[in-house]
Amino acid sequence: AKVHHHKWEISYQFKSPDCLKKLAVTINGQTPGPTIYATEGDTVVIEVKNSLLTENVAIHWHGIRQIGTPWMDGTEGVTQCPILPGDTFVYRFLVDQAGTYIYHAHYGMQRSAGLNGMIVVKVPDGFKEPFTYDHEHSILLNDWWHNSTYEQAAGLALPGKQFTWVGEPHSLLINGRGKFNCSLNVGGTCNSTNPECAPYMLTVVPGKTYRLRIASVTSLSALNFEIEGHSLTVVEADGHYVDPFVVKNLNIYSGETYSVILKADQDPTRNYWLASNVVSRKPGTPTGTGILHYYGVPRGRLPTNAPPVGPLWNDTMYRFNQSVAIHAHPSFIESPPSKSDRMINLLNTQNRVNGVMRWSINNVSFDLPHTPYLIALKNNLNNVFEQRPPPDTYDVKSYDIFIPPVNPNATRSNSIYKLEYGSVVDVILQNANTLTANNSETHPWHLHGHDFWVLGYGLGKFDPASDPKRYNLKNPILKNTVVVHPLGWTAIRFKADNPGVWAFHCHIESHFFMGMGIVFEEGVEKLGQLPKFIMGCGESKLGN
Ligand code: C2O
Ligand code: CU
Repeated sequence: AKVHHHKWEISYQFKSPDCLKKLAVTINGQTPGPTIYATEGDTVVIEVKNSLLTENVAIHWHGIRQIGTPWMDGTEGVTQCPILPGDTFVYRFLVDQAGTYIYHAHYGMQRSAGLNGMIVVKVPDGFKEPFTYDHEHSILLNDWWHNSTYEQAAGLALPGKQFTWVGEPHSLLINGRGKFNCSLNVGGTCNSTNPECAPYMLTVVPGKTYRLRIASVTSLSALNFEIEGHSLTVVEADGHYVDPFVVKNLNIYSGETYSVILKADQDPTRNYWLASNVVSRKPGTPTGTGILHYYGVPRGRLPTNAPPVGPLWNDTMYRFNQSVAIHAHPSFIESPPSKSDRMINLLNTQNRVNGVMRWSINNVSFDLPHTPYLIALKNNLNNVFEQRPPPDTYDVKSYDIFIPPVNPNATRSNSIYKLEYGSVVDVILQNANTLTANNSETHPWHLHGHDFWVLGYGLGKFDPASDPKRYNLKNPILKNTVVVHPLGWTAIRFKADNPGVWAFHCHIESHFFMGMGIVFEEGVEKLGQLPKFIMGCGESKLGN
């Protein structure tokens, strides 16, 4: 096994990913950051120097479970203190599972400022994957605003009526490139011929087969990715092999990763569109485009037809059916435990707390503490977060998910769920109507420190008497991020066997910021002494 060393300097730089010049948080001057390549069993070392003048940073390795190294998870307020300007933090972790993963800032809403990238973990030599291909490429999807993250965050936190929503993204980016319409004259420097916003070009040789690793780090948008005229065969999801299925286009939610197989088997005398479209919210953003370039055709020759517009944005069934179609590959089934020791019902609602719009789970809207939980729990700092646990359930019988909350009030808390080490936990994520009548949003939930089995999805209200009987215990896929469809539910199962403290939250940046998350603790007593370099903030002064 190898050790891969990287030196990253994080700084603000002017970037024009969609042709409009804007300050972005970059890694060594790049956004998205460099792709990390490694092989299963390798160790990755990333020396992160914070050169932001006045801003902290923390980087999360999304999908890497950090078994035995919970302090390397990079989650500010949960596993570490933020990295101060001028400071260097060395992340060091094992990549123990081949697959496609991502990394991104995990501090405030910093991810949306540009600090994100991909992690590609290859299988060890001699290992046979259940599919073959000639070449592979990575495609990172994102949404992008011209407003700064601070402007976005301030709008969300304002009380009552002054809630200022940033609105739909200005652009959709494919590998960090999009195209804002400069003729809209919104001010600022917009130059449609800037090479920084030249469309991403995927060159293929006619007749060859490609593995595309596709990931989404969007702040808000659920996306649909399509390659004009080509079908895609889904073969991997979140680092696990999928029983292959063919799609015309792929729905992908923030925090998810997939591998698809693409055959360059169409008319090789022309180029084709790569298209990223918003789904599940009424689109206010033009299609994000790139080019599938057939080798031999002039690179700059754009398709003459319009790019694909994707499925109907509000066709929930279309997306639901794709979620349900994802199963473990028959030769790579890891069976879930047949029963769970604990069932946690999490109702997802939009609420108001003292006039401020928030998202809540079982009527508790989550706030991060200033002393990271990991340090607080390990070192018995009992005064730094609410010690009473949050509720395991809500009023399952009488809560009407189809109407806005009758009592929209919620409480804010930083309390956490303590799981018995080694126990099997079921979580039912139940979606509901928002504060607006006839409205329910899509929420991609991401669990740190684990993969979980996806046991089932439903539309409407989960029925604890009948729905568990329909769980897929035969070939459920393991994932780290799963979607909850509008007015639907999603059931997952995992084993609480990774000592540490782990965030579980909606991957929409503003939703987590507005309280849509919880935290699990398990087996912290099994950990040895915590490294000092994660400490220094709040009550975790060195030596505490
Ligand atoms: Cu990719 Cu806690 O997030
Ligand atoms: Cu959400």
